[in-house]
Amino acid sequence: MTLDDIMRAAPVIPVMMIDEIDQAVPLARALVKGGLRVLEITLRTPIALDAIRAIIADVDDAIVGAGTVLTPQQLEHVAALRCKFAVSPGFTTSLLDAATTSPCPLLPGTSTASEVMQLLDRGHDRMKFFPAEAAGGTAMLKSLASPLPAAKFCPTGGIGPDNAAGYLALPNVLCVGGSWVVPKDAIAQGDWDKITMLATDAFELTKTR
Ligand code: 3PG
Repeated sequence: MTLDDIMRAAPVIPVMMIDEIDQAVPLARALVKGGLRVLEITLRTPIALDAIRAIIADVDDAIVGAGTVLTPQQLEHVAALRCKFAVSPGFTTSLLDAATTSPCPLLPGTSTASEVMQLLDRGHDRMKFFPAEAAGGTAMLKSLASPLPAAKFCPTGGIGPDNAAGYLALPNVLCVGGSWVVPKDAIAQGDWDKITMLATDAFELTKTR
């Protein structure tokens, strides 16, 4: 599965922070039940790698990726777990070098025209646009589309139910990422029905390509 396939598999990629290992599988199942199959589990909690392992083992329909992958070592770890993709908020030379030989495709982050050019130069035409709202939002993405049409984005950061559709309507946006479908309180309470409801609403966001 290519990054392009993954980015087109669902309109929204949940950005997941999992604190307790027991939450991992039910949370992933609730999201997949709502239609959000592409999951980004961030490496921001101590049990993140265990959560990724558990979801890959137990949630058949999930397309599992790792987020907040900052170093070559982390890319190596998540590739060893057979993550389908890895996401970074930005990029470094060493991370891009590691990605050239990794079986796990990297979705690097960018927020400027120069960074987009550097990524295109290194063979990456699928990127995260981060932090989307703070870095200029839809106006910035519209401005990048004309001079840099090869770059396609997954904007993430500050996106929610009120502004997601505006991003998804842009020709250079394939999907958006966000944590709004995985609210901390619902996870803490084990309110998986609420998560499925949020995922269903997100799945139904219209996508105009
Ligand atoms: C992140 O990596 O933290 C994502 O950008 C999530 O941002 P959000 O919480 O604003 O959706």
